[in-house]
Amino acid sequence: MKQNQLPDLKQAQKRTKEPTVIERAAMDLPAEYFALGNGKTYYIRTYGCQANFHDTEMMAGILEQIGFVSAPDIDKADLVLLNTCAIRENAEDKVFGEIGILKHDKEHGRNVMIGVGGCMMQQPSIVEKIRKTWPEVNFIFGTHNMVRLPYLVKEAMNAKKPYIEVFSEEGKIYENVPLKRKEEYKAYVSIMDGCDKFCTYCIVPFTRGKQRSRLPEDILCEVRKLKENGCKEVMLLGQNVNAYGKDFGDPDGFAGLLKKTAETGIERVRFMTSHPWDFTDAMIEAIRDYPNIMPYFHLPVQSGSDEILRMMGRRYTAAEYLALFRKLKAVRPEASFSTDIIVGFPGETEEDFEKTLELYDACGFDSAFTFAYSPRKGTAAAKREDQIPEDVKSSRLARLNERVSYWGKKHNEEYIGKTVEVLAEGPSRKNGSIWSGYTGTMKLVNFEPHDVKAGDLVQVKILDAKSWTLDGKQV
Ligand code: 5AD
Ligand code: SF4
Repeated sequence: MKQNQLPDLKQAQKRTKEPTVIERAAMDLPAEYFALGNGKTYYIRTYGCQANFHDTEMMAGILEQIGFVSAPDIDKADLVLLNTCAIRENAEDKVFGEIGILKHDKEHGRNVMIGVGGCMMQQPSIVEKIRKTWPEVNFIFGTHNMVRLPYLVKEAMNAKKPYIEVFSEEGKIYENVPLKRKEEYKAYVSIMDGCDKFCTYCIVPFTRGKQRSRLPEDILCEVRKLKENGCKEVMLLGQNVNAYGKDFGDPDGFAGLLKKTAETGIERVRFMTSHPWDFTDAMIEAIRDYPNIMPYFHLPVQSGSDEILRMMGRRYTAAEYLALFRKLKAVRPEASFSTDIIVGFPGETEEDFEKTLELYDACGFDSAFTFAYSPRKGTAAAKREDQIPEDVKSSRLARLNERVSYWGKKHNEEYIGKTVEVLAEGPSRKNGSIWSGYTGTMKLVNFEPHDVKAGDLVQVKILDAKSWTLDGKQV
């Protein structure tokens, strides 16, 4: 039995000048591993952001390579993986709840292997808690050792106690890892992982390691293959896509990659997430010049108060953010915008919060992901003494969310009577005779279809608008 390898936050925070290692052969497994999952099923439950959903596609690809097949739901699987998120405490609570349910199943005779991985597992206190409270968990792994899943599964099959392997390192890039994508017509393409920004509230630079970009040729090869196979839309993914290429000294950076991706001719190009600080004029020009770069921009602002932005370590002021917002709007007037906002950051006064509301109104975002600040162990902001009481945070959140719905509905109403292009996804969950899909501006449209299949780009006339969705009829 091998030694457990536990996470270490101090180690995870270190950044060296070492070049990133690109591993291309991590999945060249010894022959005996290919039958490891034969006759067994798996289910992966994913929490958190798109990066996690993409990691899940990778985990699924790896498990299928070693013989597992996908189970229709979590209750039927022989192997359950939880791919966890550490961004806020409530994300963590959901995971603990799910582990509790699986433990209960095991106690009642269910023979299920449980693996818990992802961002939460990079934190020593969490691993310790799971180890003490839920010995029913068979193995624990982190964000840097997903490709070791075949070995972890094998190790856990023979172990009596939870087998723990969490590397706290800057991280590598893995190429040639099989992916099981959720859809064929719409794909996540990871262009980078990790983050070196260390915003003072954020655990991501600790859990995901240093910023490391894939090479443009690997990314473009993936996009071209997707296109050849009928894919219509790619979402270029990274914690901070605007910083793409800085780590390997790419002179063209994200603007260059964006152009080359658009030049593949794929119908729709999207990207996520952008940090306003790294948004260059070259990127804005690319957005202006290539109509297949979709006019929807997720641009997290976090706060409208310069003082709070400074304390968050965001490196821009509210005025600079607004100027960037207006530049983007000027080159693509039809664009829609969403943002992320944290309320109740330590030291946030009523006045600071009102500045956030003012900036929100000045931008009139189409939508926003809004959060009450949640202290994360190991981050700079969590150590501050001027934490905001929970009731103040929740009342600010409610006030902000009123604005969010107001602007959401207002912008959606502007679509009534217009005909828009929608990438058809499939029948809606509530009503099988109604289909749904997204516009280029990322509006979810429910529509009456005729002669449509998933992945078709169709024209839909918008007849009605709600706060979060549009209703229409295919023309
Ligand atoms: N508390 C609340 N929200 C947070 N976010 C990141 N860290 C925290 C935290 N500690 C939010 C930010 C980020 C989004 C993904 O999650 O708004 O943009
Ligand atoms: Fe977190 Fe800031 Fe990096 Fe985004 S840019 S992942 S908020 S540290």
